[in-house]
Amino acid sequence: MKMGFYFYIVCCFLIFFSKASTTIDTISRSESLTDGKTLVSNGGSFALGFFSPDTSNSNNRYLGIWYHNDPNQTVVWVANRINPINGSTGVLKIESSGKIVLQVQNTTAVWSTNSTVSVEDPVLQLLDSGNLVLRDGNDINPENHLWQSFDYPSDTMLPGMKIGVDLRTSFDRRLSAWKNWDDPSPGDLTYGVELEGSPEMVLMKGLEKYYLTGLWIGSGFSGVRDVRSNPIFDYDFVWNETEIYFTFSLKSKSLMSRVVLNQTESVRKRYTWNPESQTWELFSMRPSDYCDRYGLCGPNGNCDYNKLPVCQCLTGFRPKWPKRWNTSEYSGGCIHIKPLNCQTGDEFITIRRVKSPAITNPWVHKTMNLKECKAECSRNCSCMAYSNLDVTGGDGSGCAMWFGDLVDIKQFQSDSDGMDLYIRVSASETELKKKAKVKLAIILAPVIAALLGLLLVVCYIRGTRRKLEEGKPSDAAYEFLAETGDVPELLRSIHISLLCVQQHPEERPSMSSVVLMLGSHNELPSPKQPGFLFYNKPFEAYPSPDNNESSSRNEISLSTFEAR
Ligand SMILES: *[C@@H]1O[C@H](CO)[C@@H](O)[C@H](O)[C@H]1NC(C)=O
Ligand SMILES: *[C@@H]1O[C@H](CO)[C@@H](O)[C@H](O)[C@H]1NC(C)=O
Ligand SMILES: *[C@@H]1O[C@H](CO)[C@@H](O)[C@H](O)[C@H]1NC(C)=O
Ligand SMILES: *[C@@H]1O[C@H](CO)[C@@H](O)[C@H](O)[C@H]1NC(C)=O
Ligand SMILES: *[C@@H]1O[C@H](CO)[C@@H](O)[C@H](O)[C@H]1NC(C)=O
Ligand SMILES: *[C@@H]1O[C@H](CO)[C@@H](O)[C@H](O)[C@H]1NC(C)=O
Ligand SMILES: *[C@@H]1O[C@H](CO)[C@@H](O)[C@H](O)[C@H]1NC(C)=O
Ligand SMILES: *[C@@H]1O[C@H](CO)[C@@H](O)[C@H](O)[C@H]1NC(C)=O
Repeated sequence: MKMGFYFYIVCCFLIFFSKASTTIDTISRSESLTDGKTLVSNGGSFALGFFSPDTSNSNNRYLGIWYHNDPNQTVVWVANRINPINGSTGVLKIESSGKIVLQVQNTTAVWSTNSTVSVEDPVLQLLDSGNLVLRDGNDINPENHLWQSFDYPSDTMLPGMKIGVDLRTSFDRRLSAWKNWDDPSPGDLTYGVELEGSPEMVLMKGLEKYYLTGLWIGSGFSGVRDVRSNPIFDYDFVWNETEIYFTFSLKSKSLMSRVVLNQTESVRKRYTWNPESQTWELFSMRPSDYCDRYGLCGPNGNCDYNKLPVCQCLTGFRPKWPKRWNTSEYSGGCIHIKPLNCQTGDEFITIRRVKSPAITNPWVHKTMNLKECKAECSRNCSCMAYSNLDVTGGDGSGCAMWFGDLVDIKQFQSDSDGMDLYIRVSASETELKKKAKVKLAIILAPVIAALLGLLLVVCYIRGTRRKLEEGKPSDAAYEFLAETGDVPELLRSIHISLLCVQQHPEERPSMSSVVLMLGSHNELPSPKQPGFLFYNKPFEAYPSPDNNESSSRNEISLSTFEAR
């Protein structure tokens, strides 16, 4: 019993001392870090030391930071990316000038920081966030960093990092891929914010845009599916007079997640750690599908992964070169079917659930509302489209305007993805579409009424039964779908039709309000007797986020609808 107790005490001491001796996370001016030694952050998450990416050719040594508990030592930051050290002779130290210097013993530096602040007691510390910081040991505020590795990211974005631009100094923090798996020097694949661009993140290949996230619209990026409900991380995009950057944080301290660029595959990947299998799981990848590739469908094209061909012209446009378009050569893009006539009046039509077109030198206004935005765009004949800048909160806010061709639009299926874009078309173009919608609703209304009648065996609208046989609702619906592919719009028409056949005439909308409902995207009231019986089933299939089967679910709900 006593032996056991002493044994326990001794063990505690051993553990305490072994911990204390291995978890050194700082070096001061009189100290240095040589190859073979490591700093380990206070919580044990990260380690700083020397490594070789290619163990078969271990002569090339780099100073880097890696996950301490990852058996594969996944490296997240490299100091001397372009200057490897030949052999194990590297030393890291703090010079009297306050510079952090990495050198081969007694020779010139292979890497150093530029910070010129000289302080009495400089301390280099590896924080548990993976950030290597230089600070004044006498400064009581540990948040005051004279230098930090998070300002000079390699290929990996960690929680708490800001990827973007400080507008006061033009200081640009961007990720750049390793050239190759065994060569950490910067490749030409980079990820960051473009200064002359709009509030969004851009993956560049050399000087070419490769993938854009689309405008930041308050809740997320217009070109990225909503991932806010994920259990692992939160993200934010800050865009004000002084800064513009993307950042993310973990929902719990026990989680691990990182974003990394891969030059070979030309992608930006997010991984999250699976503690059970002790491996990194791929969470997301950008570009993630064909339509993510920048400008794939050419000017005024709309890339829709659920259609064949994936490249479609925006409503009101036709292929510029139809023959080439038919051979999947989309670079020519699309042109207006009917020429615009700004003086006699153009119209704006709504393109729903799309990724915003690319803007260079954007015209954006944070407080304008949508009505003012439309007026502003109408006034300027070269304004081709406008949208809200922030879609959160009922009416949305802010204004973005596009001049010239609309490039890089991608179609989403779900209401929670993308944004509404209002594009300028010839006034004569819009008449037709409105008429088609009214016609559809008129055909559907009596048919639904009849179906409801059948369903309740309560044939209070007997007259409409005959119309069921004549009207052929499925033909009308499928014709509409074939022409527009717009499932939510069709469901909306059915919804409006249900409102038209409510039991009590005073609850039915007037013809003029039906036209209004068809022309807007305002929320509709729920139908009462007898339509509500239908309402719950078919309409739960409004496309939902992160649901790859959304379109097939809609088809099922439509056929369910007919079967009844
Ligand atoms: C690295 O050092 C080894 C041994 O000192 C030497 O043989 C080799 O040539 C060096 N390599 C380079 C690239 O300098
Ligand atoms: C580096 O210089 C110091 C003093 O200048 C000397 O004692 C040491 O032997 C040198 N080390 C090497 C590897 O040349
Ligand atoms: C130091 O400044 C030079 C020149 O501005 C720059 O090329 C280098 O990347 C900087 N080094 C670090 C570690 O920031
Ligand atoms: C990039 O991806 C390739 C293929 O999956 C992989 O072999 C390589 O290690 C990755 N490169 C880096 C730098 O992680
Ligand atoms: C910009 O946003 C950052 C982060 O929220 C904040 O610290 C900074 O004060 C803001 N600047 C202005 C001018 O609002
Ligand atoms: C380590 O690398 C091996 C080989 O590439 C791989 O099979 C394994 O899943 C990796 N482990 C982790 C923790 O990533
Ligand atoms: C392109 O294909 C469509 C559909 O098959 C066809 O109607 C059209 O005539 C074709 N246009 C040209 C120029 O080949
Ligand atoms: C329309 O807007 C563009 C871009 O802001 C501007 O260059 C042009 O002067 C404007 N034209 C008119 C007539 O206001």
